[in-house]
Amino acid sequence: MPTYDLIVIGAGPGGYVCAIRAAQLGLKVACVEGRETLGGTCLNVGCIPSKALLHASHMLHETHENFEKMGLMGAKPKVDWAKMQGYKAETVGGNTKGIEFLFKKNKIDWLKGWASIEAPGKVKVGDQIHETKNIVIASGSEPASLKGVEVDNDAGIVVDSTGALSLPKIPKSMVVIGAGVIGLELGSAYARLGAEVTVVEFLDAITPGMDGEVQKQFQKILAKQGLKFVLGAAVSEVEVEKDKAEVKYKLRKDDSEHEIKAECVLVATGRRPYVAGLGLDKIGVALTDRGFIQIDDHWQTSAPGIYAIGDAVPGPMLAHKAEDEGMAVAEVIAGKHGHVNYDVIPGVIYTTPEVASVGLTEEAAKAGDRKVKVGKFPFMGNARAKALFQAEGFVKLIADAETDRVLGCHIIGPNAGEMIHEICVAMEFGASAQDIALTCHAHPTCSEAVREAALACGDGAIHA
Ligand code: FAD
Ligand code: NAI
Repeated sequence: MPTYDLIVIGAGPGGYVCAIRAAQLGLKVACVEGRETLGGTCLNVGCIPSKALLHASHMLHETHENFEKMGLMGAKPKVDWAKMQGYKAETVGGNTKGIEFLFKKNKIDWLKGWASIEAPGKVKVGDQIHETKNIVIASGSEPASLKGVEVDNDAGIVVDSTGALSLPKIPKSMVVIGAGVIGLELGSAYARLGAEVTVVEFLDAITPGMDGEVQKQFQKILAKQGLKFVLGAAVSEVEVEKDKAEVKYKLRKDDSEHEIKAECVLVATGRRPYVAGLGLDKIGVALTDRGFIQIDDHWQTSAPGIYAIGDAVPGPMLAHKAEDEGMAVAEVIAGKHGHVNYDVIPGVIYTTPEVASVGLTEEAAKAGDRKVKVGKFPFMGNARAKALFQAEGFVKLIADAETDRVLGCHIIGPNAGEMIHEICVAMEFGASAQDIALTCHAHPTCSEAVREAALACGDGAIHA
């Protein structure tokens, strides 16, 4: 008899959630993690430490920019970088310990070390082989490398996101390569902490894949906060000279060559699946042409009894997508019906203001034969957002012109990352824009702007 019903490889949000749900469903579960602490990329070097720095830098910005406007006078705080790093580490530590507690509570064995799969049902950790009925691979992802650029997180000059979260000091100047989520979150945090930040992006717009109007407004807001943008630029090389780096790039429109020097260069050009050392080729687990683990509709790989979830499989590289897959695959393994609605996965960028979206962009909604209507409401018409000094954004709701069914929503505004869930629930229930417009929203809240955008899909918003 195998010792376990399930061994999960990787204790990130995909793996640890899968392990907990499987244990709740009565399975005997172990989870292998090679890191010193549980929680994966997300808790250790991703979502959580980055949000701690974003929060701290936002607070600093408030004291410098907005306190006096509210009659809050007095000395402006200075940054104690070591203390801020300490706050970040405590936030991370509290959360990773929390997962350890949940493992104990749910009687999940934490097998410490790096796992390889010897055969279906056999997982090797250290010198020991553990037998199991099922295996879930939740090995996550790692920063993608960029040709001509060597990252050295310890030196702290050319870094990836992991290095950027623990820089030895706040740099006076920073070049961010890639105007995606990581580049803009961390770039805006360092800009608020005093760095002069230039973002160099290959494409002609920031945050590829986002609604076009949101991209433009978001760039404007960030530029006002001091971020500089060089778009349509291909970085060819980064050269380190003593304590500075020089970023060389070519503008795609005219092939002209340029360079910028900075104390720190953050390479944020995407992430790739991490499957090294698992021995997948040996056991016949197929990969896609981009190196993700190939799965079917039930997260089953091409090898029997071996499943895969999270950043290691195709789809958005988001913690909550990994968590949802973790719960769903645990349910499938326990003989139930696991389900993930891939059409309703929100995406949030935790800058100030936040940017949040779910469902189709206006461009995607209009791409087919479908007729759509767009209801837009600016936060300038929202009393609460104005009081928060965050009224530059808007809510944009996209609905089917014939059925009125909500197809997508895009928000730039205060707490957009919280507000978007109203639309997620509405979409899960197949709601119409009118359903949202007819729902009473408390005043004064930023969420009223969502209702106004829904009203704008019908007879018109009130405060526009
Ligand atoms: P991971 O979290 O990467 O966990 C995989 C774990 O598996 C790792 O701990 C690894 O050590 C372990 N592992 C791998 N191979 C083995 C092996 N052979 N044996 C044992 N252990 C192994 N997403 C959001 O939704 N919101 C955010 O705000 C957000 N912010 C981010 C900020 C940054 C800077 C970064 C880098 C990412 C951020 N993400 C965010 C993305 C998020 O972190 C990932 O989508 C998420 O962590 C994926 O979860 P996962 O469980 O698939 O993998
Ligand atoms: P990304 O895919 O979001 O953005 C990478 C950017 O780099 C793109 O705009 C791309 O065009 C650009 N780029 C690629 N090659 C380039 C080059 N040679 N020169 C200049 N620009 C180049 O990837 P990012 O920001 O590294 O994030 C990785 C993943 O982590 C994302 O998929 C995201 O889902 C996840 N993440 C999520 C967060 C959130 O949900 N708030 C926060 C941080 C990360």
